[in-house]
Amino acid sequence: MRVTVFGIGYVGLVQAAVLADLGNTVTCVDIEQSKVDALKEGHIPIFEPGLEPMVKNNYRGKRLLFTTDAKTAVDNAEVIFIAVGTPMDQDGSADLQYVLKVAETIGQNLTNYSVVVNKSTVPVGTGDKVEAVIKEQIDIRGSDIDFDVVSNPEFLKEGAAIADCSKPDRIILGSNSAKALGVMHNLYAPFNRNHKRTIVMDRRSAELTKYAANCMLATKISFMNEMANIAEQVGADIEMVRNGIGSDPRIGYHFIYPGCGYGGSCFPKDVNALIKTSLDHGHTPQILQSVESVNAAQKIKLEEMVYRHYGTNLAGTVIAVWGGTFKPNTDDIREAPSLVAMSALLEKGATIRLFDPIANEALCAKLGNPDNLFTLDDPMEALTGSDGLMICTEWKMFKAPDFNQIKQSLNHPVIFDGRNLYDPETMTELGIDYYAIGRGK
Ligand code: UGA
Repeated sequence: MRVTVFGIGYVGLVQAAVLADLGNTVTCVDIEQSKVDALKEGHIPIFEPGLEPMVKNNYRGKRLLFTTDAKTAVDNAEVIFIAVGTPMDQDGSADLQYVLKVAETIGQNLTNYSVVVNKSTVPVGTGDKVEAVIKEQIDIRGSDIDFDVVSNPEFLKEGAAIADCSKPDRIILGSNSAKALGVMHNLYAPFNRNHKRTIVMDRRSAELTKYAANCMLATKISFMNEMANIAEQVGADIEMVRNGIGSDPRIGYHFIYPGCGYGGSCFPKDVNALIKTSLDHGHTPQILQSVESVNAAQKIKLEEMVYRHYGTNLAGTVIAVWGGTFKPNTDDIREAPSLVAMSALLEKGATIRLFDPIANEALCAKLGNPDNLFTLDDPMEALTGSDGLMICTEWKMFKAPDFNQIKQSLNHPVIFDGRNLYDPETMTELGIDYYAIGRGK
């Protein structure tokens, strides 16, 4: 099929590459010429395992095209995806200016029946707004071209986006138009061959489904972080508790890992946006408000561990930091808990020796390139001359380090672990002071 995708960001590029890989002809449109040029030369703007070869291969095969020319891209497209950003506004709501601008462009250039598909995470009712904007532009042209707007939220996880997009748990289609649903069923037929994954509903329910999914996952995390804080007070070990409750299939093991708080471009933004939507509609979302405030408090846990150990004057203290991205296998540092912890420690006078496998430079820039922050290319090098080690992200390479080397490298062996990677008893046996989340210290 002929598909157009507006927005070559995370969601748009992954969706475009996966659809092109199945044989569709996919045109990606972006307003940034430099981004388009870079992609044509094989430079992928984001780090995502498996994405680069897929993009290059399909670009060479002429199934994946990149352009800034919206007119040509809209012309003849059977399906047009809107996959532009919906950043968080000052008041917590989703900023729809990019989505509505694309709707306007579509309305100005549509020449045949098309299904316009909203992939961006948008507040309930946005489908109606997109439809109205497109219709208005078509009317201005004195034309009467038919189109439909479908909500089809994405459920990709960064770091596993290709797999999530190629083998989705579910494909949510929000529309009451049989014609549009027919087109979408054709497009997604390859994904439904072995398992029926498509769930059809009205557009508003589809829009809310996306928020409900992310808010449910964020709620599980904040709930576990609250349990971890209780465990700490009552002298229990949250990791035992996690195992104990996860074995109940109604609860399950997924997304019940306590830690130094959730970050990223989705959970913080979506929880806040749904709080705002609820309040705008006269409902106070008490659970969501708590999810958000528990998370904000959790992001302070790491620095608190450090103060408990060294006090709050950190002048002369050197801390090695392992990991800074909001989770492993991504270069994304948006809303990362590490930023909260590092900026607090730097402010208190500590020197930081940072190692992240991918994002050293971005983290440094985000923290304002201060003189007391050094980046290292090797995790063990970061320990040299450091007093303690703080772990913010659970990159795989941190899971089984050489503890004897850690012990020898640190001036006074102590680990502040925001991801509960190690066994407290083993640490005690090794003579390493160990602070973790919800595990007694
Ligand atoms: C999230 C959802 O998982 C996806 O399903 C969704 O499509 C995506 O948002 C989106 O809306 O685009 P993502 O933000 O990439 O995906 O990352 P997650 O793997 O969900 O992790 C989010 C944060 O929660 C990370 O900071 C992670 O460390 C934290 N987390 C996750 C925990 O603290 N504990 C857990 O048990 C799981």
